[in-house]
Amino acid sequence: MDLKHSGDTIPDGQDAVIVAASVHMGKHENFVLDFARKNRAELERLPSALISVSLAAHGDEHNAEGYVAEFEEQSGWHPAHVGIFPGALLYTQYNFLKGQLMKKIVRDKGSTDLDTSRDYVYTEWDGVKRFTEDFLAGLAEPSSQDRA
Ligand SMILES: Cc1cc2nc3c(=O)[nH]c(=O)nc-3n(C[C@H](O)[C@H](O)[C@H](O)COP(=O)(O)O)c2cc1C
Repeated sequence: MDLKHSGDTIPDGQDAVIVAASVHMGKHENFVLDFARKNRAELERLPSALISVSLAAHGDEHNAEGYVAEFEEQSGWHPAHVGIFPGALLYTQYNFLKGQLMKKIVRDKGSTDLDTSRDYVYTEWDGVKRFTEDFLAGLAEPSSQDRA
């Protein structure tokens, strides 16, 4: 479900939850933070994972991990599985101001991806697929409690 436009609770009957959030202006979106805060108990009860998307994940991993640490601290949810993936610079979809803002941020980082007439997609989709498949495979395995 799209957390921005749907309810803020986990629908009944879910086997597991993957929460995906992107970083804007130094933090994950507030509506995802609110969702994690509100549903913390359920997220801890169910097998759950966090996917964090940012530009920092493309070459500035320390910062990308910092965003996740802050999210965990502010939400109180400490997911057992965390995937950190690079997002995209979608210059062609930004309005003029947003495009110039993003270009400045990118230039300040020392990147040369400054051509606002095109997009730059850094996401390693194979990595996203592998993360999801590994998470799902973990659900299929009997837990240590089941084996005991
Ligand atoms: C207005 C804006 C601000 C952003 N701020 C950051 C930032 O502070 N740090 C970062 O690593 N990435 C930042 N990004 C990059 C986004 O995380 C990346 O573009 C991501 O793919 C956005 O996904 P979404 O469009 O699904 O929200 C920003 C992107 C936008 C458009």
